[in-house]
Amino acid sequence: MREVLRRLYTEQPPTAPPPATILDLGCGTGVAGAAWALALADFSQARPPTILGCDANDWAVAEARHTFADLGLRGGALRTEIARLRWPKGPLAAVAAFTINELPHAQRQTLQKRLLDEAAAGGQVLVLEPLARPITKAWWDDWAAVFKKHGGRADEWHFDLPLPERMHVLGKAAGLNPRELGARTLWLAR
Ligand SMILES: C[S@@+](CC[C@H](N)C(=O)[O-])C[C@H]1O[C@@H](n2cnc3c(N)ncnc32)[C@H](O)[C@@H]1O
Repeated sequence: MREVLRRLYTEQPPTAPPPATILDLGCGTGVAGAAWALALADFSQARPPTILGCDANDWAVAEARHTFADLGLRGGALRTEIARLRWPKGPLAAVAAFTINELPHAQRQTLQKRLLDEAAAGGQVLVLEPLARPITKAWWDDWAAVFKKHGGRADEWHFDLPLPERMHVLGKAAGLNPRELGARTLWLAR
């Protein structure tokens, strides 16, 4: 998240003030929303925005709350299905990190429309998924085409970064290349 945002904000500096709220859809432990809050604070030299995480899993929601508190960020997390979420007032910085591949087709399409509406209303939208294609095969190309049609972009990122020892070991054990971080992203912002 951090590296992707650094590159996106450097290549396309936002012309509008940063959104006051980050919505982290399928937040898990809250790391994506937290990373965006810290990146925005860094980039705009302002107070980090408030984060609202949402996740269907109780444990994840509790962990996300710990993450935000541990990092000194303002925010909370709700246990809810994305489809049932009442979205906070925008404009929002909305992120779905490694989440959309877990949604059924109909919910995925409803969320896509909501994300496009959010961007049209002045928000910023970031979708992250793994580089490995099989997990997103059913929908990635369609989503990339739609985001591009609306003025957004689709990228594949490879970052050669030294990882903390524990992540290095974990990545290696999982059969990943522990010397490289990567993701594919969709980005849409005015
Ligand atoms: C692979 S994890 C990613 C977590 C986090 N975004 C990250 O990047 O570390 C996917 C998360 O999406 C949540 N999730 C999946 N389907 C969901 C749904 N329909 N509504 C809310 N959360 C959902 C799961 O509970 C899980 O925490």
